[in-house]
Amino acid sequence: MRTCRVTVFCALLLNGCDGPQSALNPAGDGAQQVADLFYAMVVGATLIWLIVVGLAVWAMLSERAFHRRTVSILVIGGGAVFPTLVLTALLCYGLRMIPELNSPAPSGAIAVDVAGVRWWWRVTYRDEAAAAEFELANELVLPVGRPVNFKLSSEDVIHAFWIPSLGGKVDMIPGRETHLKLIPNREGIYRGVCAEYCGESHAHMHFIVKVVSEAEYEQWLDRQRTPAAADSELAENGLALFLQRGCSACHTIRGTEAEGTIGPDLTHVGSRESLAAGLLPNELPQLHRWLIETETLKPGVEMPQFDALSTTEVDLLGRYLEQLK
Ligand code: CUA
Repeated sequence: MRTCRVTVFCALLLNGCDGPQSALNPAGDGAQQVADLFYAMVVGATLIWLIVVGLAVWAMLSERAFHRRTVSILVIGGGAVFPTLVLTALLCYGLRMIPELNSPAPSGAIAVDVAGVRWWWRVTYRDEAAAAEFELANELVLPVGRPVNFKLSSEDVIHAFWIPSLGGKVDMIPGRETHLKLIPNREGIYRGVCAEYCGESHAHMHFIVKVVSEAEYEQWLDRQRTPAAADSELAENGLALFLQRGCSACHTIRGTEAEGTIGPDLTHVGSRESLAAGLLPNELPQLHRWLIETETLKPGVEMPQFDALSTTEVDLLGRYLEQLK
């Protein structure tokens, strides 16, 4: 019975190491190095703990005269020599990783600028090889095996960019540019987070990272760089309401008169996995909710709550945005 409980406990514990946001289940080169360092430290710490506990038990069981003879060896050896050797070895192991992690990405790397904004992510792709440059928000699509060079900045306070499954964490500092190189090596959907407290909705500042095949990435690029389709009645009426209600003061929908830059670019918002920077699944009822419960869902958000809109208007806006794929 006890063995069974221990097995269940271990299974639950290990299950926590999996998932779309786990630094212990790496899907990228940087995250792999961080995980290797973590496991080396866990093994080392466990061995040292066993030695210390063993010595404590040994000390309790042995005689006083024996203590007087061994005390200097233990204090000098265990208290000074041993920690110096262990910490030096760990320092060398850690320092060895820095040049590799800091080295610039090779040519052919995709350049992506990400700016942290309270509480969402402005993403700009500059893929020279594909002659593509466009903006989107709160989502990254990366081809497996291709290096990506992130240029990170902030538009207000300090944020931190972290995709635990793919690489290390880097601060986004107002007035400065920081950089991060990543090479995703396993396809999948991962989750990125803001890892620096940045205000009341810090915990609602996520993004989705899709690592896909090169062919899928090319298809996605093609879709993203084209302006929004506007040849249906829904698109026409929806856009008219979007402009009339002032949404265009903050949001851009490429190919239309909506050219605001304060808020996220919505050109292909319907194709994204989530709404409101990872807060809600991208589904029509959630889109409606976001329009009328904005401040409740994300306290402190700059977007005003449009609860004065009629049900018909909320429905039209929602359906218009949903079809922007
Ligand atoms: Cu941005 Cu925390």
